Amino acid sequence: MPGWTRLLRAYGEGERAGYVDFFWRVQSLNFVMNDASSKQTSPRKLIIAIDGPAGAGKSTIASRLARKLGYVNLESGAMYRALALKAIDRDISFDDEAALVKLARGSRIQLEPTIGGNRTLLDGHDVSSRIRERDVTEGASRVSVHPAVREWMVAKQREMGAGGGVVMEGRDIGTKVFPDADLKIFLDADPVVREQRRMQQQKIKGEVAANVAAELRERDRRDRTRAASPLVAAGDAVVIDSTKLSENDVLARVEKLVAEKLPG
Ligand code: DC
Repeated sequence: MPGWTRLLRAYGEGERAGYVDFFWRVQSLNFVMNDASSKQTSPRKLIIAIDGPAGAGKSTIASRLARKLGYVNLESGAMYRALALKAIDRDISFDDEAALVKLARGSRIQLEPTIGGNRTLLDGHDVSSRIRERDVTEGASRVSVHPAVREWMVAKQREMGAGGGVVMEGRDIGTKVFPDADLKIFLDADPVVREQRRMQQQKIKGEVAANVAAELRERDRRDRTRAASPLVAAGDAVVIDSTKLSENDVLARVEKLVAEKLPG
């Protein structure tokens, strides 16, 4: 039986399916990276970690940087969001660590880089838009406090980024997922500015905006104070405060740091 057919036959629910998804994903990463490497002067593919709180500009910078380098941009937060969505759909409490881990083990969570941006697939369904909604955003922050959930996520994220050629963003990439990353950026900004950016992004005003800002503050507090892998800059991360910087300024700084890491 040809290898591909064997793999397709293995396709089903749970861990085995997770493995197959991972295999497919590695194939697509290889494809993207091989294509990217032909454009670069050096074949060395870095692991770049970008951590920081919500609204600091991580996603935009990570995706622009990845595009420029021909790397893959992996949003680790989307995985926590996908799990939270499944918990909502299955009526599982965000506080039930054991049930959440079981749920994760039986799930296929795929991050799929596409030309138009990243897609998140949960059990084969495109949930990219749904996971950005408020209930899921809140749930993601709550499911991510559990050490056993994090352990599962971290293991998957390590597999996904192991080959290099990735810009992975999140909260614990430089501290936990890839403590030996080639470059670690911690992107921060004044909390008020971060809230304002969120409002502008979501084009909201008034009471709705005030509620969203309050939720962002609460998520921030939770992410920074949780016992397991709290949001903190790695000792060897380059901290960039984007409060007074434009997106282009931040990108230029990060690109300079990347250039220093690329030999030749
Ligand atoms: O980056 P994001 O807003 O999509 O992340 C959603 C939540 O997931 C966030 O509140 C904290 C959690 N998260 C995490 O704990 N560790 C990561 N590496 C990424 C996200």
